[in-house]
Amino acid sequence: MDIKKIAIVGAGEMGHGIAEVFSLAGFPVSLIDIKPDVLKAALSNISDSLDKLSKKGIITAQHAKDSLKRITTYTDVTTGAKDADVVVEAVPENIDLKVKIFKQLAQVTRNDTVLCSNTSNIRITDIAKDIKNPERVVGTHFFNPPVLMKLVEIVRGEKTSDAVFNDILGLIKNLGKTPIGVNKDTAGFIVNRINAPEMLFFGLLIDKKVAKPEEVDSFIRSQGLPMGPYELFDFVGVDVVNSSLLYYAKEISPDFGKAKVYSDLVKNNLLGKKTGKGFYDWGAGRPKIIDSAKPTDKVALLDIFALEINEAVKLIEAGIASPDDIETAVKLGMNRPFGPISVAKNLANGDVKDKLDALAKQFDCKIFEPADSIKQGKMREAVESRLSAKKTVPNAAVQPTKPAEFKNVTIQKPGGKVAILSLNRPRLNLINDEVLEELDRAIMALWSDAEVNVVVVRGEGGVLSAGADLSTYFANDLQFVEFSKKGQKTFAKFSEIPKITIAAIEGYALGGGFELALACDIRISTSAAVLGFPEITHGLLPAWGGSQRISKLAGVSVGSRLVLTGERITGKEAFDLRIVSKLFDADFASGALSYAKEIASTVAPIAVALSKVLINKGFETPLEAGLEVESSAFGLLFNTDDLKEGLSSFLQKRKPEFKGK
Ligand SMILES: NC(=O)c1ccc[n+]([C@@H]2O[C@H](COP(=O)([O-])OP(=O)(O)OC[C@H]3O[C@@H](n4cnc5c(N)ncnc54)[C@H](O)[C@@H]3O)[C@@H](O)[C@H]2O)c1
Repeated sequence: MDIKKIAIVGAGEMGHGIAEVFSLAGFPVSLIDIKPDVLKAALSNISDSLDKLSKKGIITAQHAKDSLKRITTYTDVTTGAKDADVVVEAVPENIDLKVKIFKQLAQVTRNDTVLCSNTSNIRITDIAKDIKNPERVVGTHFFNPPVLMKLVEIVRGEKTSDAVFNDILGLIKNLGKTPIGVNKDTAGFIVNRINAPEMLFFGLLIDKKVAKPEEVDSFIRSQGLPMGPYELFDFVGVDVVNSSLLYYAKEISPDFGKAKVYSDLVKNNLLGKKTGKGFYDWGAGRPKIIDSAKPTDKVALLDIFALEINEAVKLIEAGIASPDDIETAVKLGMNRPFGPISVAKNLANGDVKDKLDALAKQFDCKIFEPADSIKQGKMREAVESRLSAKKTVPNAAVQPTKPAEFKNVTIQKPGGKVAILSLNRPRLNLINDEVLEELDRAIMALWSDAEVNVVVVRGEGGVLSAGADLSTYFANDLQFVEFSKKGQKTFAKFSEIPKITIAAIEGYALGGGFELALACDIRISTSAAVLGFPEITHGLLPAWGGSQRISKLAGVSVGSRLVLTGERITGKEAFDLRIVSKLFDADFASGALSYAKEIASTVAPIAVALSKVLINKGFETPLEAGLEVESSAFGLLFNTDDLKEGLSSFLQKRKPEFKGK
């Protein structure tokens, strides 16, 4: 579909921001609102925002000027929307109003104009119910403020066509946003839906006088979050929270309507910041009472995590969204370092189930009861996308096992007996549990590969790795220990594999990235690369072998300096300290790769395997014992074809062709 012109209906909080996003991307935009003063304010807000972007150097002054010029305002839908290819509706969250506007839009636009709704909660199918061709209706749920927030949930109504869904996914992606597909129409989609049981829970806490708002907010802030829930409800508007819950009560379960506190506040016009009072008095700015309140001990983080995980698992079971999409949506939509999926991976099924059973009982709420998969002990399967595979394979034991795909690493074989194992994860190749698991599988896949003599370990994007992903959630100290052990075991395989491993360091090799490099046999680096252990400055220590390997490799003095100070050094300094064996300042292909190929073409595989054992184990052994093992290893070479080939090629003055036999 050729999308040239956009119309936005409703120029309020969201509409004006969405208009700015489209105009920034070069689209002419018709901005429509029934209120002329709203349109005037919208243009002035957009102009201020564009000004800010240009002052920060994000766009040029000319780009800002052109973007503003691309927006034309209208007070009537008929003239404003008639020649648009895509219309985005952003009027207040009222189903009757949205249905009426969509009917009107269907009449004034072409038959193939795509009609989008920015609704936060309402099912798209219901909004499109009075239109003749509902296949052209789709949800585009932007987050506030649209200019800054990357996430846009793209919601498929029951009748939305594939073509429309895909066109809009592509359009939103071209705006530089992260579109996440919501595969089935459901109230609240992903992010708001995951939040919904929490909103109910926080309401019930007040109804049942379990704790006061300021005590709960103080607790949540003490856990490192910038804002507690009641503060946020006041900020967003208690009426907005209340009407969302009432909508979920109608669409999903009457339980969502159980918390009385919200409707009581709404009845008394205590809507939060906008009316000056809600859960708090906002007369003197941000409610100070939270600062002095004692954090409650009646609420635990696990209450909140268990409710979020439960709702996420229900969405997965219903085929509404994949675990990865849920994780991304929650991280981007709520500005959090982790979502419910990664949290679930670090919790025991039994703990989550017990917590949910207890909450359901305490608040007499069926929707807090564990989802089916959690009840059956299959939480892990659900969050690892293994539910449907299990369901569709009647007897998994007799099915051939297909190796799982890699998401964060790639293996390439460019010839010349070299394999390139690349980390490939957005944001500096940070290493998390999943990356460790994939690195482990990747190095094992190369272990007995007769076509490979040398494995080059590198990172895509000009960076080896900036370290461990600190946004991982750990439930307790044991999990911390396990995370360390897992990294140690994986990285040990880079030392033990019977091939030469070469870490090619570009950009950063920090923390876990540096430890991965230290586990390899040889390190080569660009002069400008940055290496180091920043752990100490985060209250951590290098626990994937780094605290041990660095001193063994470069001496206690160098080890102490790097581990204890967190100081970063360049590739050139690392070379001078003998941590790095070689500098390559050409590009990867002509620098590191050609070096690896040069080695791979000349070394005898069995001699490499035995020499690695001698070097790595001999290092730990007294000299005499080491010498004894050395002689035995030497003896083992005697009957190998490789030795015969090595000697005869030497005598015949030709290049050896080792077979590894
Ligand atoms: N505010 C948020 O944080 C947020 C975030 C995501 C999604 N949403 C959703 O976006 C939509 C808009 O929310 P908002 O916060 O921008 O509301 P808003 O009240 O700020 O703006 C809505 C605008 O629509 C205009 N309007 C009303 N009837 C109209 C009509 N018939 N024709 C043209 N214009 C009309 C109003 O004059 C108003 O300016 C809602 O569905 C809301 O749920 C809001």
